[in-house]
Amino acid sequence: MAPYPFSAGDKSFPQRQWYIAAWSQEVVSAPLMRKLLGHEIVLYRTAAGQVTAVSGLCPHRRMPLASAQIVDDQLICPYHGAAFDAEDRCASLPFQSKIPGAMRLKSFVVEERAPFIWIWGGDPASADMTCLPDTTSLTAPGGNMVLSGFGLKHVRARSQLLLENLFDKSHISFTHPVTLGIRTTSDGPQQSPEVIDRHNYLAFHHLSPMRAPDATMRAFFPDIGPFMRVEYRAELFGVGLVNAAGTECISCDGNGACLTVAGRMNFLHGITPETDRTTHYFMAVSRDFAPENEDYTALLGERNRLVADEDIKVLEAIEPYLDTADARDEPNFVTDAAAIRVRRRIEKLLRAEALVPLTDLPTPAETV
Ligand code: FES
Ligand SMILES: [Fe+2]
Repeated sequence: MAPYPFSAGDKSFPQRQWYIAAWSQEVVSAPLMRKLLGHEIVLYRTAAGQVTAVSGLCPHRRMPLASAQIVDDQLICPYHGAAFDAEDRCASLPFQSKIPGAMRLKSFVVEERAPFIWIWGGDPASADMTCLPDTTSLTAPGGNMVLSGFGLKHVRARSQLLLENLFDKSHISFTHPVTLGIRTTSDGPQQSPEVIDRHNYLAFHHLSPMRAPDATMRAFFPDIGPFMRVEYRAELFGVGLVNAAGTECISCDGNGACLTVAGRMNFLHGITPETDRTTHYFMAVSRDFAPENEDYTALLGERNRLVADEDIKVLEAIEPYLDTADARDEPNFVTDAAAIRVRRRIEKLLRAEALVPLTDLPTPAETV
């Protein structure tokens, strides 16, 4: 049976895609060992600043290279001293000149686009730069976005649960009543969101009703007009980066017409499979207002971590029951439409990799 929630293939995430391997600042001139996409991997930075990713177990006796020394850009195995260069080759052995052919590490394709280090999950020859997400809108529109609240959590649940959860607003009142507040049905979007669906990018946008800015908004944006609206966005970049609950505070005139964007804030969620059943959850916040307000920076980061913990608790409770689950047996609510659209997008990629036809994709939730 296909891994939940998919209906074909035997993988729970697409392999030939880009995923976040690390934050830029995590990778230095010492090994960072992390299991990514089912592989034990060591990441490190060469003297020239280039990020390198190779398999993290020495082929001789499986010594983890997490504690390897790096000398002249070479990883030195801490068990018997084999030296591996940045191209994954064994360059030297301490006690013999002949190097066995199997003394190689596997290298992985990585691409640094700060603050992210991306890794290609397929074999190196298949690396496709057209699938690398363009994240400039999240981190540097106009060059004035402030990034903060960097975090990484380990989740004992499959990556698809985290992805879909980030496109499901209907759980907020029940999973996050204190951190995000109770929402009534009248708080939610009254109209269907605008959907943007293109290669490597899927987004849902909606504008809140017009309201007068409260004291907090006026403090942040002294020039804001008499009314404001908030644009809520849920965006999927590639298959592993979500900007959810992103907001733009938009100053409006009395007729609700948008005048200017007063401020932008993004909540970044990097979802990278560790294995078929566990996930690395990267998080950060970016905003283009009040950069000097350290209290606000700290508050945003802390609230983001608390919200993530609440989601993780729910998803880890569900995961143990999924090995025998078939999503085709599940009812869907109207509010599941965005998450189901994400699921179908991932499933299409999985089917393409498994060479399974698209013809019998399950009925989308929008029609339920
Ligand atoms: S385990 Fe690495 S050289 Fe022996
Ligand atoms: Fe949540």
